[in-house]
Amino acid sequence: MCGIVGYIGPKRALPIVIDGLKRLEYRGYDSIGVLAYDQEKKEIYLEKQPGRVQEFIKTAQLDKKGGLAIGHTRWATHGLVTRENSHPHGDCQKKIFVVHNGIIENFQELKDALLKKGHVFVSQTDTEVVPHLIEERQKQGLPYREAIMQTLKDVRGSFALLIFNKEEPDLLVGTRFSSPLILGTNDQEFIFASDPTPIGLVTKNVLYLNDGDVAFVSEKGYELKSFLSEKVEAKRGVIDFTAGEADKGNFPDFMLKEIFEEPLALENTLRGRLLINEGKAKLGGLEPLEPRLREVNRVILVACGTASYAALAAEYFFEEYAEIPTEVDLGSEFRYRKPIIDNQTLFVAISQSGETADTLAAIKEAKTKGALTLGIVNVVGSTIARQVGAGIYSHAGPELAVASTKAFTTQIADLVLLMLFLARERKMSLVAGQEIMNELRKLPEKMRSVLLQADKIKALAEKYSVYKNFFYLGRKYGFPMALEGSLKLKECAYIHSEAYPSGEMKHGPIAIVDEDFPSIVLAPQDSVYEKVVSNIQEIKARKGKVIAVTTAGNQDLEKLVDDVIYIPQTLELLTPLLAIVPLHLFAYYLAKKLGRDVDRPRNLAKSVTVE
Ligand code: M6R
Repeated sequence: MCGIVGYIGPKRALPIVIDGLKRLEYRGYDSIGVLAYDQEKKEIYLEKQPGRVQEFIKTAQLDKKGGLAIGHTRWATHGLVTRENSHPHGDCQKKIFVVHNGIIENFQELKDALLKKGHVFVSQTDTEVVPHLIEERQKQGLPYREAIMQTLKDVRGSFALLIFNKEEPDLLVGTRFSSPLILGTNDQEFIFASDPTPIGLVTKNVLYLNDGDVAFVSEKGYELKSFLSEKVEAKRGVIDFTAGEADKGNFPDFMLKEIFEEPLALENTLRGRLLINEGKAKLGGLEPLEPRLREVNRVILVACGTASYAALAAEYFFEEYAEIPTEVDLGSEFRYRKPIIDNQTLFVAISQSGETADTLAAIKEAKTKGALTLGIVNVVGSTIARQVGAGIYSHAGPELAVASTKAFTTQIADLVLLMLFLARERKMSLVAGQEIMNELRKLPEKMRSVLLQADKIKALAEKYSVYKNFFYLGRKYGFPMALEGSLKLKECAYIHSEAYPSGEMKHGPIAIVDEDFPSIVLAPQDSVYEKVVSNIQEIKARKGKVIAVTTAGNQDLEKLVDDVIYIPQTLELLTPLLAIVPLHLFAYYLAKKLGRDVDRPRNLAKSVTVE
C-alpha cells in the first residue's frame, strides 16, 4: 500500500511526479505529498496534505522548476490521516527527505534511541525514523551513501524508499525490501515507481530492483548496489502497456470500464493458448516443467480476497477433471498452519498485483518446504511473478479500480487452462479437453451478451439500494461466485452482506431472513440446480426477497422469485465466468446509487503490501 514515484532528468519533474501519483493513487489515497528541488535557486518545494491528488493539484504550485521530484500517496498504517503524517518526511535539519511504502517494524525502538540523542519528530509515522537515522549516521562521520547503507541495516520490516538530500541535490536514491520499486530509464531520464503505470509516462524500459538493491541515480546514470555495498545487476524488462491505457476512456469510473473489459481480457488471456486439435492448453512457461508436473499428486492454491474466490472455483474443477486432490488457502493463514507439503505438491499463487504481502509470504513458506511453485499473476515483472519459478500471466491489462473484476475472470480462465494442462497429462480424454476449449472460445461473446443487460441490472441495483443487508448464495460453482459478489458489495457500497453455500442456510443463517434481508441466489441450470431451487423455496417461505441468476430460457424461476437475471448457457465449470458479470455490475451500480467512491472505496488500497 502507498504509492511512491520519483523523477530525475532534463524535464520539469513535478508534473511528471504528480501524473505518476494519479496513476498510483489506487494504492492508497488518504494523503498526498511531493518534494521538488529547483537546482538553479537551490530551493526545496515541499507540499503535502490529506486528500486526493485532484484536490491537491488545485493548490499545489505545479509550475515549480527543477528536474528532481519525489511524491507519495498514502494508505495510513501508523498515525492518523493528517498533514504531519503525510510524506515526504524529513530529518531535524530538513535536508534529508524520504517517501516510503511499507512498514518499519522496529521503528519504535529506533525512534526511542534517536529521541534520546535529541532528534525531534513531528509525525507518528514509522517512516520518519529513516531520515533521522541517516542524519544521525552522518553526524557520526559517515559519508551520505554509507549513512544510507548503515540505516538500511538498522531498519527491519518492508520498505520501498526514495531518499533525497539537499546537500547532494543531483542524486536520487531508491531502495526496496519486500515492497515493490521499479526503475524506468531511457538513459537520459530516470523514474522510480511502485508499479509500471507511471513509468510509461517516460519510457517502456525498466529495471526490476530486487530485495536489498539500492539504486543511486543522477542525470548521468545509475549505480546499483546491495545493502552490503556490492555491485549488483537488475533484471531488465519492457513494460507492456502505455500510460494511455490507464485512462477511463468514456466510462465514469475505472471499475465500470474494467467490468466492460472482461470479455476482451478473457480473449487476451486465451489468445494462443488453446490447442484445440490436442484438447490441451499451450502454456509456454510451464513446458520445461512438464516432467515434474506429471509427478504432482496434490495442488494447493493460495491467494487473498477476490483471487482466493477464483481459487475456490478452481478447487471444484481441478478435482472433477484433473482428479488431483486440491485445497485452497488464504495467504494470510497459510504459513501459520503447518501445511503438509512435499516435492510432489504443486503450489499455485494467484494475484492480480503480484505484490500482495500475505501471498508472497506463503510462497516463501511453500518454497522452503520443497513445493513446485507457480504463479497466476496479472502485473508483469511484479514481485510474485519473479518469486515463483514459472507461471501464467493473466493478460487482463492494467486494473486500476480497487475492486478486482476483470483480473478475477482471467484468473478463473487461467486456472481452467492450468487444469487442462494437468488433466490431459492424466485421465482426461481428447474429446473432453476439446469440448471445454471450444466452449472457452465462445465465452467472450457470451460475456458481452450479459453486459448488454447493464441497464436492467442498474435498475435492479437502484431498486434494491434501500436494503441494508444481503445474502449471496450458491452451491458448487455458485458458492465462490456468491463470495465474490458479496465482497464486491461490501467493499464498493459499504453494505453488509454475507455469502453462504445455499445448503448451509438451514443450519443457522436462515434465522435472519425476513422481508428486509434480500438474497441474491446463483441458480444456473447445472448439476445442483434443483437443490438450489429448494433453498430458494425455503427463503421465500420466510418472506425473503430473492434475485436469482439463472440460465437463459429457464422461465421456471419467474413465478418463484422477485427478480431474475439471465446468463447464457455454458458448461457447468465455466458458469462462474458468466455468472459473476451481473454481480460485478450490481455492486457497481448499487454503490453509485449510494454515492460511493467506487474506484477508491474508503479504508482500502489496491495493492496490499503489508501483512
Ligand atoms: O493483487 P491481489 O490479487 O493479490 O489482491 C488480493 C486482494 O487484496 C484483492 O483481490 C482484494 O480482495 C480486492 N479489493 C477485491 O476486489
